[in-house]
Amino acid sequence: MLLQEAIHSRRSMPVLGLPMPNEAQLDAVFLAAARAPDHRLLRPWRYLVLKDDGLNQLGQAFVDGMNELDPDRALRDHQRLLEMPLRAPMIVVAILSLNAHPTVPEWEQWLSLGAGVQNMLLTLHDQGFAGMWRTGDLVASMAVKSFLGLADHEQIAGFIYIGTAHGEKAAPALPNSIWQHWPQA
Ligand SMILES: Cc1cc2nc3c(=O)[nH]c(=O)nc-3n(C[C@H](O)[C@H](O)[C@H](O)COP(=O)(O)O)c2cc1C
Repeated sequence: MLLQEAIHSRRSMPVLGLPMPNEAQLDAVFLAAARAPDHRLLRPWRYLVLKDDGLNQLGQAFVDGMNELDPDRALRDHQRLLEMPLRAPMIVVAILSLNAHPTVPEWEQWLSLGAGVQNMLLTLHDQGFAGMWRTGDLVASMAVKSFLGLADHEQIAGFIYIGTAHGEKAAPALPNSIWQHWPQA
């Protein structure tokens, strides 16, 4: 697929099914993620791949995490939280591993991670898969972070739901114009 075609035809799909990427395809996805622009090459990102029972365990961690953030909601949404990770056969957890650096502030490290995730999404699309980047309150939950083994300097930047899209989604409208020459003529 040509790069321009891939950029413009990629869609985030809320419900994804099988097939999911195999090991060789995952290798290609993470090689692409590692090509992200990265000031001082700090490599401030790492990724966890969850599937099968890992997704069931993540559902339980979502319940525990919501219990910590909002116990009433955890009770009310118990089943929904348990099933949330099952909206795709694979989830990649994108983790920001922050470095304390004298010239590379935290926001630059966040941006590097975002560029890596976009490389991932485009590579998945090129392979015939789809992905959807999701966050929500649970990214900040200690229960979820500790379930996934995050260190103190790490944060969850997103759950990338991955699989095969069965169905189509129209392209979101593009903004009219996001650029101009400067100074203007
Ligand atoms: C950092 C980040 C977090 C996001 N979190 C969510 C989310 O929790 N739930 C959701 O429905 N969409 C979320 N989105 C948006 C979708 O991933 C997607 O980009 C959006 O629906 C537009 O669809 P498109 O990628 O096909 O243009 C998030 C996007 C980003 C960049």
